[in-house]
Amino acid sequence: MVLVQDWMPPSRENWEFIVWIWQFFPLIALAQWIPAVNRIYQMGKTSSDSSFNIPGRIAWIVMELPGPLCLMYIMYTVPSSIGLHTLPWENKVMGAFYVMHYIYRAIISPLIAPSISPMGPHICLFAMLFQVCNSISIGGWLGGYGHTTAADWQNHEANYKAGGRMELGMMIFFLGFLANIFHDDELREIRRAAMRNQARREAEKSDDERPKTTKGVEKIYMVPRNGLFEYILYPHYLCEWIEWTGYWIMAGLGCVPARSFVINEIATMLPRAVQGKQWYIERFGKEKIAGRKAVIPGIL
Ligand SMILES: NC(=O)c1ccc[n+]([C@@H]2O[C@H](COP(=O)([O-])OP(=O)(O)OC[C@H]3O[C@@H](n4cnc5c(N)ncnc54)[C@H](OP(=O)(O)O)[C@@H]3O)[C@@H](O)[C@H]2O)c1
Repeated sequence: MVLVQDWMPPSRENWEFIVWIWQFFPLIALAQWIPAVNRIYQMGKTSSDSSFNIPGRIAWIVMELPGPLCLMYIMYTVPSSIGLHTLPWENKVMGAFYVMHYIYRAIISPLIAPSISPMGPHICLFAMLFQVCNSISIGGWLGGYGHTTAADWQNHEANYKAGGRMELGMMIFFLGFLANIFHDDELREIRRAAMRNQARREAEKSDDERPKTTKGVEKIYMVPRNGLFEYILYPHYLCEWIEWTGYWIMAGLGCVPARSFVINEIATMLPRAVQGKQWYIERFGKEKIAGRKAVIPGIL
């Protein structure tokens, strides 16, 4: 079923255009370094009270879910439109890894988070656009506009280097994925602990002293300490970059869509991490943050 003629699923020509233009996303992301733009970046720690805000949990589901949905749709429809009967297993595995990541990011993570700050609708829309462009770029490549045979995957060379690249990429992908979840969970644990403390304090009060409604744990922040948080304040970002670098290695370094994904993620998340470090210093003081970088241990 065609959703938008020549665009969803994309024709080869339109897919090539998206892949080409998607490489220039870092130029747009540069704007995030401008303080005035940063002030309207209302998300997480930098969100403000506004009646236009979307509740955090809903915003994350709505903005991230188009990614895997578009990718699955494109991988399902493109092959038959170009006369392919089946795709190599590598295409399917890479498609499945992409969907697996977004089941976590778009569904599990928002649902298990004790609280997520509300978000400006423009941020949600921007992230949704990112998801659609990225999934067209990667989905088209996996759906038949990239490698379509086992020989393509081996770079038409039958040597151990071509064979081992996929396995190496998979290991790096999983290392990054699991470490990203671990560090996300360290942040969730701060609020879970706050919830437990609140519940304990309330249980200790008499019936008269006990408030009618519970306070909640929105916007409770502490300095995280475990894992790589000891060295950097945004290890979950670094681990996500490692994860998608593994994905790029799986696809082969010449795969422009996988390369753009890594570069575009870094371009949009790096300014958040650097500005986030400043936020931690202002909130907790230089001494408490001393010795920690923003996102790359010992460097940045
Ligand atoms: N942001 C992006 O552009 C982006 C892009 C691609 C992927 N991701 C991935 O999405 C995940 C979440 O990203 P994010 O930008 O939302 O990360 P984040 O700003 O670090 O926030 C993650 C979650 O932890 C809470 N939190 C953050 N710092 C905390 C602290 N010091 N103490 C207690 N709770 C804290 C946040 O609550 P509040 O919401 O209330 O602040 C939020 O629920 C990460 O794994 C990241 O790799 C993010």
